[in-house]
Amino acid sequence: MRTQVGIVGGGPAGLLLSRLLGLAGIETVVLEKRTPEYLRARVRAGLLEQGTVDLLVEAGVGERLLRQRLCHDGVEIAFDGRRHRLDLKGLTGKIVSVYGQAEIQKDLMTAHEAASSNIVYEAEDVSLHGLMGDRPQLRYHKAGEAHEISCDFIAGCDGFHGVSRQAIPQEVIRIYERTYPFGWLGILSDTRPVNHELIYCNHERGFALCTMRSMSRSRYYLQVPADEDVADWPDARFWSELKRRIPADAAAALETGTSIEKSVAQLRSFVAEPLRHGRLFLAGDAAHIVPPTGAKGLNLAATDVRFLSEAITAHYRSGRTDLMEGYSARCLARVWKAQRFSWWMTALTHRFPEASPFERRAQAAELSYLISSKAAQTALAENYVGLPIASTALA
Ligand code: FAD
Ligand code: PHB
Repeated sequence: MRTQVGIVGGGPAGLLLSRLLGLAGIETVVLEKRTPEYLRARVRAGLLEQGTVDLLVEAGVGERLLRQRLCHDGVEIAFDGRRHRLDLKGLTGKIVSVYGQAEIQKDLMTAHEAASSNIVYEAEDVSLHGLMGDRPQLRYHKAGEAHEISCDFIAGCDGFHGVSRQAIPQEVIRIYERTYPFGWLGILSDTRPVNHELIYCNHERGFALCTMRSMSRSRYYLQVPADEDVADWPDARFWSELKRRIPADAAAALETGTSIEKSVAQLRSFVAEPLRHGRLFLAGDAAHIVPPTGAKGLNLAATDVRFLSEAITAHYRSGRTDLMEGYSARCLARVWKAQRFSWWMTALTHRFPEASPFERRAQAAELSYLISSKAAQTALAENYVGLPIASTALA
């Protein structure tokens, strides 16, 4: 089989790339190892920058998003039992949108079904070959049968644990990594959100985040030790711990209920450079991971996909290769700013078990400075809503 662009991974990055290329008349095949049911049920991100919303609209998958999203003009930071609101809109002129990643995944899958796109679910043993030649290949098994696809280019959109990044030789890839001594325990419940905007709480028992998926579905997170077992967290324990960590007025208003999902996510900062090796291009979590505190992961994946679809489209339309050549540097400039912000926001809001008394006092001073300085609030807000996307000069 032959295609123009072979895409490994059918998460948000892979499906969005396939969609944008499809609209530009470029043929793709997506290889995804999971089932459609699994993908539709996967709860992850919730907060979208305006640039991500715009891209989904451009891709023709924004109709339900624009109807159902919750627009947030502000965000709260709580510490020492008090809540402080940052006026994102007033500080930056921009807002953020709440719309679950599972909904984006469903919207992309529905659009692909309608377009009869070539997506192979339950593709096993995917492997990449001939990346430095003109015709790289993807090999895989489906229902026990071996297949091979010959491609012009391959996009590695297979997330942090995927195979694409591993196909780049060790001597050409540089890895930058930081792990954190804690994870996030998250639950989803069909209860009214405790507040109409998000609350990031710094508490001596650990960080907590109050977020949501809709006005009747809440998402809450607790900082827990990195090796925590979800089985040790029956709902009652989760709610009682959350109540201890959030300010008293919020705890009093908290509506509790049965969880419909509960999971622990590890926190990690990770960048693999460069994002291109021969005819392979990495995008999204396959190339970089941020701790979720800044809500940047999915938004970075969307920007990579924007840049990659522009580069591939320019190649087929006019033979331009400069955008492909500049792809890695263009993404990394943005990725590193989001890495810095996500790391800083994590350091500001979490309790590090190994923190010295000096570090703890410095963190308290930083929180106090934040609420007293418009300049500090603007710096947080402009990163949180998403830094501007540099234009390509696609003349
Ligand atoms: P993935 O979503 O990981 O998709 C990769 C796909 O590739 C998967 O479908 C996988 O099954 C498939 N795959 C893997 N290996 C193979 C293989 N060998 N062969 C074929 N297919 C393969 N981001 C935000 O922007 N805002 C938020 O609010 C936010 N909150 C988050 C909260 C939590 C708790 C977590 C864990 C993450 C959060 N993120 C957030 C990050 C966001 O979820 C990810 O950055 C996003 O999923 C990246 O998309 P992706 O398509 O690159 O990778
Ligand atoms: C979420 O809604 O899941 C969410 C929101 C903001 C974050 C992380 C996760 O920083």
